[in-house]
Amino acid sequence: MEQRFVDRVVIVTGAGSGIGEATARRFSAEGASVVLVGDQRAKLDALAEQLPAERTLVARCDVSKPRQVEAMVASAIKRFGGLDVLVSNAGVAPEGSVVEASVDDWERTLAVNAGGVFHGARAAMPHLIERGGSIVNTASVSGLGGDWSLACYNASKGAIVNLTRSMALDFGPRGVRVNAVCPSLTFTPMTADMKGNRKLMAKFKERIPLGRGAEPSEIAAVIAFLASDDASFVHGVMLPVDGGLTASNGQPPMG
Ligand SMILES: NC(=O)c1ccc[n+]([C@@H]2O[C@H](COP(=O)([O-])OP(=O)(O)OC[C@H]3O[C@@H](n4cnc5c(N)ncnc54)[C@H](O)[C@@H]3O)[C@@H](O)[C@H]2O)c1
Repeated sequence: MEQRFVDRVVIVTGAGSGIGEATARRFSAEGASVVLVGDQRAKLDALAEQLPAERTLVARCDVSKPRQVEAMVASAIKRFGGLDVLVSNAGVAPEGSVVEASVDDWERTLAVNAGGVFHGARAAMPHLIERGGSIVNTASVSGLGGDWSLACYNASKGAIVNLTRSMALDFGPRGVRVNAVCPSLTFTPMTADMKGNRKLMAKFKERIPLGRGAEPSEIAAVIAFLASDDASFVHGVMLPVDGGLTASNGQPPMG
């Protein structure tokens, strides 16, 4: 394993499971001090036990709450003395069209997914400017186009995509790179129900040229790349990590 993040401090939100957990493990394995952020303390503690104690901090925090996010960033600075990378990854994905989803679904999804990115960037930016750091947001292919029955999620991920672009314009000149990954189907707790649905999995295979969903570690590797010096001239990019899904214009196979 490369050691690209020795002496670097990385915050990962939604670190208790799935892509966030894999990302925290990846940064830690590459030498970073990692702040594990999430809304479920037990999951974060379980992960922290498997990582080096001197380079790991657990911060329970609801990313939709600006005061909690500010306190979380302050605790990271207090413990590790600065900040190099913010990975805003926490998310929720309620199903439903605009008439099926509840108003609460709408407000919560926008607050957690888009709000989490906004609040995290606001709190972290002064520290990232100080060190010439970087932000990587977990958007989705669902932010690049629409899905059936995912209205709130589509809106929130579209917001993350354009917020990422906006931040890239505003903070590139201050030395902070801002990018996003756009995964398609990835096997995490969020998609656990889908994995057992053979008909649905067959449809995904038809749509994804590589013929499968992703493992969380495959998304984590790209997040780490975007945050690393290997990506020093990559900025304002929405990088699909989708097995080729978005290579299609949507037309069906001929013949
Ligand atoms: N799994 C997929 O197919 C897929 C595809 C594209 C994008 N994504 C995105 O990847 C990110 C991670 O999702 P995942 O698939 O690993 O699912 P997941 O459910 O395992 O991870 C989401 C994490 O976010 C945390 N979280 C939820 N609300 C929170 C809040 N208010 N404050 C703090 N933490 C909160 C959860 O505790 C959980 O650990 C999400 O943004 C999701 O939208 C997932």
